[in-house]
Amino acid sequence: MTQTYAAPKGTADLLGDSARSWDTLQSTAREVFTRYGYTSIYTPIFENTEVFTRGIGEATDVVGKEMYTFEDRGGRSITLRPENTAGVVRAAIQAGLTANSAHAKLFYAGPMFRFERPQKGRQRQFYQIGAEGLGLDSALADAEMIMMLWDYFTTLGLKPASMRLLINSMGDEVCRPAYRIKLAAFITDNADGLCDDCVRRANTNPLRAFDCKKEACREIMDRALRLSDELCGECATHQDTVLRLLDQAGLQYELDSRLVRGLDYYTRTVFEIQVDHGLGSQNAIGGGGRYDGLFEDLGGKPTPCIGFAIGAERTVLALEAQDTAIAIDDSLCVYVAAVADEQREAALAMAMELRGRGLTALSDLQNRSLKAQFKQADRARAGHVLVLGEDEVARKGVTMRNMETKEERFVTLGSVFKMLTTDER
Ligand code: HAM
Repeated sequence: MTQTYAAPKGTADLLGDSARSWDTLQSTAREVFTRYGYTSIYTPIFENTEVFTRGIGEATDVVGKEMYTFEDRGGRSITLRPENTAGVVRAAIQAGLTANSAHAKLFYAGPMFRFERPQKGRQRQFYQIGAEGLGLDSALADAEMIMMLWDYFTTLGLKPASMRLLINSMGDEVCRPAYRIKLAAFITDNADGLCDDCVRRANTNPLRAFDCKKEACREIMDRALRLSDELCGECATHQDTVLRLLDQAGLQYELDSRLVRGLDYYTRTVFEIQVDHGLGSQNAIGGGGRYDGLFEDLGGKPTPCIGFAIGAERTVLALEAQDTAIAIDDSLCVYVAAVADEQREAALAMAMELRGRGLTALSDLQNRSLKAQFKQADRARAGHVLVLGEDEVARKGVTMRNMETKEERFVTLGSVFKMLTTDER
């Protein structure tokens, strides 16, 4: 027997309902984000490795442990994108999108790649939907971004009560460096009780120690000084304004001074939406923040930005956990059935005509019996079957069967479309 193959560890094929869920996640994103003035951007799935090492930060887990990096046949170091913010900024700089203080509102959807230990809601190839507002510095932009993310999840059907919006500030180049020094000193002073990873972070990325899941580390880090208490005046005012705008919009949030996020480019506002059911420890269904320094890190001019990304698999799991079926587009589907071989070509022609008028129409392509065609119509969730037999052809019409009420009647060719699309059906 020939060898068969399974999809690689940490990847999943999307087929059937999961493919349709991904379609709905994307179409809902387009619908919601368009209302806020966002347009699509498509960037490559791989970039030169430096885009990520410089953009995301050498000391992050993503760059240090999780990237799919390889040398291509031309000797270049290439990396499959672990996220898309760095790629979008690289593209915006390359195209001069934000030259002369212009701003750009962009969104994307597609696969990302991280070499992580697979578990529920965590894959090596996973799908994200993201939005990036480039060239926007006002706290108004932060508030609008967070409101758009909330709008997206509620439009999809997630109940507000099942989601928690967490917010924090990462400070900026004025207040963060001094805080990092103090936090590094705290970690070194408490090295005895902390795990090796956290102690190492004192030198590389002390803020990440807040993210450690080990209970002993959490207890110690609970006593550490918080950046939220050390913000400079401008960062504090920025945060106050964001929170006031969210209050005015009636959006509930929790200030979480431990929220540090896993990527180094963040400045000021960071946020995450978590759910309590269906996901275990991988409970963030989306997150983002401001990244005012990323353009410069990637060789561009200073350009303030804010964005987020949503995890598609986790969003679907969260919807399932609250028993909300993803609304699947059930556009009117019609099945044109042929009673015998003589009518098969006429059935194909009628299906073509109905498609030309915008309906979803199917006909048999495999010489199936009438009974088998009805089964197929059922499986396709067709609302109506149009039966074409010798008698119908002679009378220039079809027998139209309503699959829900089982009612059947003869309809002339001229009025089929009208009958299908009006209340008379
Ligand atoms: P992130 O928090 O790394 O942010 O990822 C965003 C979302 O992607 C997470 O909240 C989670 O739902 C999903 N996700 C991440 N890793 C995995 C995985 N291994 N398996 C399944 N889902 C996963 C970013 O990627 C930033 N680029 C967001 C951003 C945009 N910040 C500013 N602009």
